[in-house]
Amino acid sequence: MSVRLGSTAPDFTQESTEGPIHFHEWIGNKWVILFSHPADFTPVCTTELGAVAKLKPELDKRNTKAIALSVDDVKSHKGWVGDIEETQATKVNFPILADADKKVSGLYDMIHPEENASVTVRSVFIIDPNKKIRASITYPPSTGRSFEEIIRVLDSLQLTDSHSVATPADWKDGQDVVISPSIQDPAVLKAKFPKGFKAVKPYLRITPQPNK
Ligand code: BEZ
Repeated sequence: MSVRLGSTAPDFTQESTEGPIHFHEWIGNKWVILFSHPADFTPVCTTELGAVAKLKPELDKRNTKAIALSVDDVKSHKGWVGDIEETQATKVNFPILADADKKVSGLYDMIHPEENASVTVRSVFIIDPNKKIRASITYPPSTGRSFEEIIRVLDSLQLTDSHSVATPADWKDGQDVVISPSIQDPAVLKAKFPKGFKAVKPYLRITPQPNK
């Protein structure tokens, strides 16, 4: 099954720290950040799970929930959660999938054998409420992720789903955006972008973020 952008996120049932997860049912009407890490009781992963736990208020604002995964079992995850909570000063407020049989990591192509045949790399999938894969990012085991960047991508996806815009390099929520090249009718431009726009080039039209 493909995990390309636009494809349906593979469904599964797997054990987790919060009991069995039936994935599509668990998604419900939320956006989801599904992210894998190489192993429990490792330093970078410990900081990452702490960082995601602290972002819960930001995720809630975006109708989004997080779910982590590694190929360790539930007993290991539960032991490690204690360390995360102690060292990162937060509660782990999302489930960690226990993918000891590698069922989910196989479905999502999270094991890259040329990197390491036995553990998952740092994969991130952003999945929308229609269960479609909307973004995927892969980091090596030695590089902890910027979850601020993942929130930034989520903001871009949620904005561009509801307005005829795209977000430029290094854009952050609240900054100017670009108008989709497909919008050419002057009446439509006026209706959609009442604050106006600056045409730097015919294909590069900059406008204030429409929902601010
Ligand atoms: C870590 O989480 O610290 C880590 C895991 C695997 C390889 C390198 C670092």
